[in-house]
Amino acid sequence: MEKFETHEYDVIIIGAGGAGLRAAIEASNKGCSTAIVCKSLLGKAHTVMAEGGVAAAMGNMEGEDNWKTHFCDTIRGGKFMNNWRMAELHAKEAPDRIRELEQWGAVFDRTPEGKINQRPFGGHTHKRLCHVGDRTGLELIRTLQDKGVHSGIDVYMECTVSQLLKDGEKVSGALAYWRETGRFVVFKAKAIIICTGGLGRAYKITSNSWECTGDGIGLAYEAGAELLDAEFVQFHPTGMVWPPGVQGILVTEAVRGEGGILRNSEGFRIMEKYDPERMELSTRDVVAKAIYHEVKGGRGSEHGGMYLDISHRPAEYIKKKLPSMYMQFMELADVDITKGPMEVGPTTHYTMGGIRVEPETAATRVPGLYAGGEAAAGMHGANRLGGNSLSDLLVFGRRAGLSAAEHAQGLSAAPTVDAGQIEDAANSALEPFNSKEGDDPYAIHRDLQDNMQDYVGIMRSEDDLKKGIDGLEQIKQRLKTVRTDGSRPFNPGWHLALELRAMVVISEAIARGALQRKESRGAHTRLDYPETDAETYGKINSIAAKSGKDMDVSTAPLPQMPDELKKLLEDK
Ligand code: FUM
Repeated sequence: MEKFETHEYDVIIIGAGGAGLRAAIEASNKGCSTAIVCKSLLGKAHTVMAEGGVAAAMGNMEGEDNWKTHFCDTIRGGKFMNNWRMAELHAKEAPDRIRELEQWGAVFDRTPEGKINQRPFGGHTHKRLCHVGDRTGLELIRTLQDKGVHSGIDVYMECTVSQLLKDGEKVSGALAYWRETGRFVVFKAKAIIICTGGLGRAYKITSNSWECTGDGIGLAYEAGAELLDAEFVQFHPTGMVWPPGVQGILVTEAVRGEGGILRNSEGFRIMEKYDPERMELSTRDVVAKAIYHEVKGGRGSEHGGMYLDISHRPAEYIKKKLPSMYMQFMELADVDITKGPMEVGPTTHYTMGGIRVEPETAATRVPGLYAGGEAAAGMHGANRLGGNSLSDLLVFGRRAGLSAAEHAQGLSAAPTVDAGQIEDAANSALEPFNSKEGDDPYAIHRDLQDNMQDYVGIMRSEDDLKKGIDGLEQIKQRLKTVRTDGSRPFNPGWHLALELRAMVVISEAIARGALQRKESRGAHTRLDYPETDAETYGKINSIAAKSGKDMDVSTAPLPQMPDELKKLLEDK
């Protein structure tokens, strides 16, 4: 008899957001036994925080939009740091993924003639964001969930994976535990896809909810995968700044897409200074830095942000196109956005960096291990355009599911799961219970968030980054003896102690990558290196990988774009 509850599948997907669901649908449709394992509830994911729309060159509003324009916008928005092949696949395949979603029941807003309505967003040169008011991510999740549960996928909810298991170089499964009981469960699998999203909870001010602790990125790193360009963290320009309890909650870019204007305390429309051509529809990196400079210059709003005003639009229009924003400000801040401005400021929203994957297959360098959605890197370069995350997770979620299924079906025998490895993984997960003197995980988490916010935030310098890395070294030491009180049944302190392992890994990759990149590019801004350096840093990706017990941070050449794609960028 097995010591632990055990399940066996061809393909396991860790994470139940948009990418995980899309991957699971594909793997299951290819005939693989498929399960999703997620630490939260099915569909309770950061996907819903892509509120304003999903980008796809459907050309419904402006007929001249096509994959080539979408590709060029994505590369320019990513400051030429994107993996060109991912950007190409994404731009070409996004419209099909939208049509497919529609067939599966997604109800998009419509034009008067019945086409899917598309709105403008920062950095997109055409009206390109298919949307459902300001609840697009939610509709996407709802649709995928519906499709998924009817595709015969098993779902293990509130079940946290603490370690991947390997048979030699190959992945062979995962050890997880039920959050409710604390009991372990073993998943044997021929292929595993990581779709656990980003790491916003490593920062103090974030739009991300409690789930976003970089778990899958940490799991993949520990299993031998490489991390790519971790230094590129997106600070969305508009999060709530007041009241303090809701600081960081997202204010969708759709507010600017629908005509919202950003003003400082003197009533000046700030984007006239920072990007007079694109104004509020500039890219997120530019708008976030504009707000930062205005606040630092003493022209901030009452509570230290900027004023974002949409109240010149008719009240009924605002309530129809931005219903969640209307409710959010009314209920959380007692502000009626149809009558006056919101106060907004930058919030950690998304990671462009993450697990390094092959563009076509979403494969990591660990055989049998794949990654999709925000956990994977390369697609967005140094700065993601709004709406490109939802299309990314559809395009590459599908590709990851397909490749994992092909891999699983190509194996002559299932990989072996070693009992000793399971035992070691279980003991490792239980370590926080054995510690008597160590710090509690909440104190360590708070210090990690302060450290990342203060020293590895929107503006960086060598001095600060070195302080940040020193701070992380101390946090790593404290984490070795982190203490968990109580017992295993639902114990949030224990859960956090384990989540901190991944948060510290990815934080270190961000800080070390940022120190290594001596230039400013997209979301990565160095006060001591304010220029973009096309000759040196424009040609390299940063790579973080485990070497013994330490993290090795190095560089790899950025894959060269073929001439026909370079020509597109010259022409357009
Ligand atoms: O602002 C937003 O609605 C977020 C969209 C995104 O991150 O893609």
